[in-house]
Formats: sequence, structure tokens, C-alpha cells
Amino acid sequence: MKIVKSNSYDEMSKKAADIVISLVKKKSNTVLGLATGSTPLGLYGKLVKSYKNGEISFKDVKTVNLDEYYPITPSNNQSYRYFMNKNLFNKIDILKENTHMLSGKAVDCDKECEEYENLISSLGGVDLQILGIGRNGHIAFNEPGDKLSLYTHKTRLTDSTIEANSRFFSSRDEVPEAALTMGIGTIMKAKRIIILASGEDKKEAVRGMLSPYLDTHLPASLLSLHNNVTLFCTEDVL
Ligand code: GLP
Repeated sequence: MKIVKSNSYDEMSKKAADIVISLVKKKSNTVLGLATGSTPLGLYGKLVKSYKNGEISFKDVKTVNLDEYYPITPSNNQSYRYFMNKNLFNKIDILKENTHMLSGKAVDCDKECEEYENLISSLGGVDLQILGIGRNGHIAFNEPGDKLSLYTHKTRLTDSTIEANSRFFSSRDEVPEAALTMGIGTIMKAKRIIILASGEDKKEAVRGMLSPYLDTHLPASLLSLHNNVTLFCTEDVL
């Protein structure tokens, strides 16, 4: 795994955004895999700035998001759909119909997940996947466990993730206990992956990810098997 270390969150976000910007300039119909959480917010801000400066257009770009809480409606301000619209999609010229997300109100979750896998394939796969990392080493909502799912699936969130994500909700009880998420195999099929990590609380997860062992209890460690992954991080996580 290649590591690009930065002195600040802003510098890390800029370096990661430059990768996305140069790809979109080179391939206007790029398929981007997107993540939520607070870590990629700086990167999204840089993309918005670049669009506003007239440097890039997202007119032909397609996106697929990693995951969504379940159950949740898209209009709920805690849904990942709401997050993406607010922080990126509403601020750039991307066509809403080209922004794909798992539905938090799907009735048949198995069908929803299978259709999402097919959708990604029909788009020609993900050119560049952006990832964050959970404090417990999860990627998307692939939580630590004895087994990891290859494909998009419904999962129960661990107490650690519910606790970590409760900071976005008014109380812990409001955090949904389940989610729909791309599987490890779905993520690993991306042609290129960039993973962002910043802050002391990610130190242990990053250390595990960079260790020379694969550990299903630290899902991000599986990324070592991919041949084009770059970690963009701040000094405090190393
Ligand atoms: C959530 C998301 C992950 C994200 C993680 C870390 O659980 N499902 O995709 O990487 O949180 O979020 P943050 O960047 O806010 O620490």
C-alpha cells in the first residue's frame, strides 16, 4: 500500500482531491465510488471548489456510494443520501440520475443488494473508490467478524460503530442498527482505491491495516491484497 502523509487535514484533502480531479479531467465519464463520514468532507469541499472555478465538470461522471443505513428514508437528514446531496451532489453539475445509492427503504434487501452489484457491473466497474476507515477498522459497513461478505449485503452494525456514529445523531438510540453495504469483494473490484484517515482515534485501525497480516477482525487489512491502493493520511495516525 502506498502512503501519502500530510501535515494537516487540509493538505491531505487537497492531495486526495487532486487524484480525483486529474482522473475526471482525463476520463469525463469516470465511475467514482464514494464514501460518507466526516473524513472525506474536506476532499468533497475541494471538488466543489474545483467545479466552481471551472476546472472540472461532473456532467458525465457516475457515482456509486458504499453504503446506507437501514431502515432510513432518503429525506431523513441522517441518511447517507441526504449527506451526499448536501455535501457534494447539490453543489456540482452531476446529474442526480447518475448518483447511485443503496436504498434505505428497500422492501426486499436481498434484491436491492443483488441489483446494486449488477448496476456496478453495468457501469463497467468503479474506476476510483474513495474510502474512510472506522475506528474498529471497518470499511464501508463491513464490520469486524469471523467472516466477511464478498458481495453487497445487509449487515448489523457493531456497538463500536453505533457508538462512533452516534455523534451525528441527537441520541445513541436513534442510530439505525443495520445497514446495506458493498461487500469486501465489491470494493476490491475497484480499479484504484484511495483510503483517507486522519486523527488519533484512527491510529489503531491504521496500524492494523498496515500490518503484514490479513485479519477479518480488521476488515481494512484486506486492502493489502489490492494492487493499487493509496492511503492519504495525516501524521497523527502513523
Ligand atoms: C461510517 C461509514 C464509513 C466511514 C466511517 C468513518 O461508518 N460507513 O464508510 O469510513 O464511518 O467515518 P468518519 O470519517 O466520520 O470517521
